[in-house]
Amino acid sequence: MYYSDELIEDVRRRNDIVDVIGSYVSLKRAGSGYKGLCPFHNEKTPSFSVSPNRQTFKCFGCGKGGNVFTFVMEYDNMTFIEALQLLAERGGIELPKTEMTSAEKGAAAKKHIMLEIYKKAATMYFRKLRSEEGKHGYGYLKGRGLSDDTIVKFGLGYCPPSDSGLYRMLKDEGISEEMLKESALFNYSEAKGVTDRFWNRVMFPIMDVNSKVIAFGGRVMGDALPKYINSNETIIYDKGRNLYALYLAKRTRQNFFLLCEGYMDAISLYQAGFDNAVASLGTALTPNQARLIARYTKNVIITYDSDGAGRHAALRAIPILKKAGIVAKVLNMQPYKDPDEFIKALGREEYEKRIKDATPGIFFEADCIKEEYDTENPEELTKFHNRIASKMLEFEEELERTNYMKAVSKRYALDYEEFRKLVNNIALGVTKKEESREDTTVERVPKKEQNVDAAAFEREKLLLTWACEEKAYCDLLTSYLTPESFQEGVPRQVAELVFKKLEDGSEKLLPATLISSFSELSEQSLASDLFQSGIWENMSGDKTKQDKAFSEALSGCIKADRQRKLEEAIKKNDGAAMQKLLTVNKDKSKLESEILKKLNGLNA
Ligand code: CTP
Ligand code: MN
Repeated sequence: MYYSDELIEDVRRRNDIVDVIGSYVSLKRAGSGYKGLCPFHNEKTPSFSVSPNRQTFKCFGCGKGGNVFTFVMEYDNMTFIEALQLLAERGGIELPKTEMTSAEKGAAAKKHIMLEIYKKAATMYFRKLRSEEGKHGYGYLKGRGLSDDTIVKFGLGYCPPSDSGLYRMLKDEGISEEMLKESALFNYSEAKGVTDRFWNRVMFPIMDVNSKVIAFGGRVMGDALPKYINSNETIIYDKGRNLYALYLAKRTRQNFFLLCEGYMDAISLYQAGFDNAVASLGTALTPNQARLIARYTKNVIITYDSDGAGRHAALRAIPILKKAGIVAKVLNMQPYKDPDEFIKALGREEYEKRIKDATPGIFFEADCIKEEYDTENPEELTKFHNRIASKMLEFEEELERTNYMKAVSKRYALDYEEFRKLVNNIALGVTKKEESREDTTVERVPKKEQNVDAAAFEREKLLLTWACEEKAYCDLLTSYLTPESFQEGVPRQVAELVFKKLEDGSEKLLPATLISSFSELSEQSLASDLFQSGIWENMSGDKTKQDKAFSEALSGCIKADRQRKLEEAIKKNDGAAMQKLLTVNKDKSKLESEILKKLNGLNA
């Protein structure tokens, strides 16, 4: 963080959320807040609401929410700092030019040098491709049908079979050994000393969205293995947060992206006139990459390899894209393997047709599920129906769900009414959900991602919101729990801030203030969700009901906390801790009445 919390808060206060959002979206007064059509997704009836009291916004359709910074970040595809700068200007606040700490300055300077190193390396590889030495590489790329224009557009290069040509060049230019070591472009060994990581390969520079080289992929010119060597992650390269060719695709006029697997696929597509292709850098698509795409488009056509691995990867990508608000379709390239092969064989127009015929993600998923069952067998058929019915529950908006239910029943020749009933029964828990045979459709969330338990989140949400609103709730919350009782990640971080504020007891804590403590959109959104509790708005006024809900949530949280700590104590074989925990009341209904009693005492 470059700027102080006070300054950030000043900027926020100077920008009333209703004014700011009102300048982009037409808002109408509704109750204590405002409503309008959500600018982040397509809708006909307004589900986007802005609360002047809380200084937050929330869309009940697409789930986006946060404070005024979040809104600007989402709306203008800005980083937190950019949004801060924009709003500071709008509010007439002058930001200090350099409020970086010396550590931050050091990190920025290092990044700058690292970008220089990669730029110099890319330039050298690029030149080598045109040199005598690079003939072989140039021939290889031409042999794969790439034009000179394409080679230039993608900055392709060649790395000669020299042991340390790049290293010597950079050394001569005065780059420090420390930086060279960190660049991941060299191997260090006792026997051979320092050698270049890439050796006798054609080079694909990987550029960030601003066309800066941040990594390389190097391909052998033939069938040797490994086919590709990629540079490792560095301070400038996080492969889960970048996409190959995004710097080109972001400028497309098309309203969708083509998502492919390989460098060569993206390049072939571009050469064939599809300037909207991106590739996911040799890893399964990550949630961060999906969010990155969502900054530019909400429609993706997956064009992964036609083999089993490609289908599997598509199955995993669909829910990740959906979570980022992106509607995915899957393109069929049969009988060809990948876009590169397909275009070479059938050309641009045929590919265009396949784009038009791409299968909606839900059908693709359902078709894959169907393959797991022998649908001739009635029992298996029922299981298949249960599986696709469960999938319908992933669509949160009713209208959307209804449309998909209709489409699915048509596709699989089901009676719509019957299918609708099945879906409802599963939603209500009357019919047991059919579990998948393998976890093909389960999204594996990488470590860094926000992974919250939904039920716990609901409880935590209610507790934190109400504790900020009312003294009695606050007292009870702090007497039973500590921030560590909240689940790890954003909920716990928010709890820490709330508890701190509550203990200081100084001023009322405004959710919008708290949201600014997070610089990532995903975190801001989660943090703001912690203060959006639809249930309680309906309840305000009915104190008995509210008390009951509070005691339920608190006792649930206490129980979960006890359970978690107990498991930990057992794992660590910590007898004393176990003893202590066993004395904690675990009977939820007893706990509830105990809390209710205390609440009555406090209210009296
Ligand atoms: N990949 C990798 N390392 C490998 C193989 C693949 O990093 N050993 C990544 C690369 O990003 C590659 C993508 O996975 O672009 C897809 O792999 P593949 O289909 O094998 O490569 P293509 O890019 O299609 O290359 P080509 O057409 O030359 O085979
Ligand atoms: Mn391929």
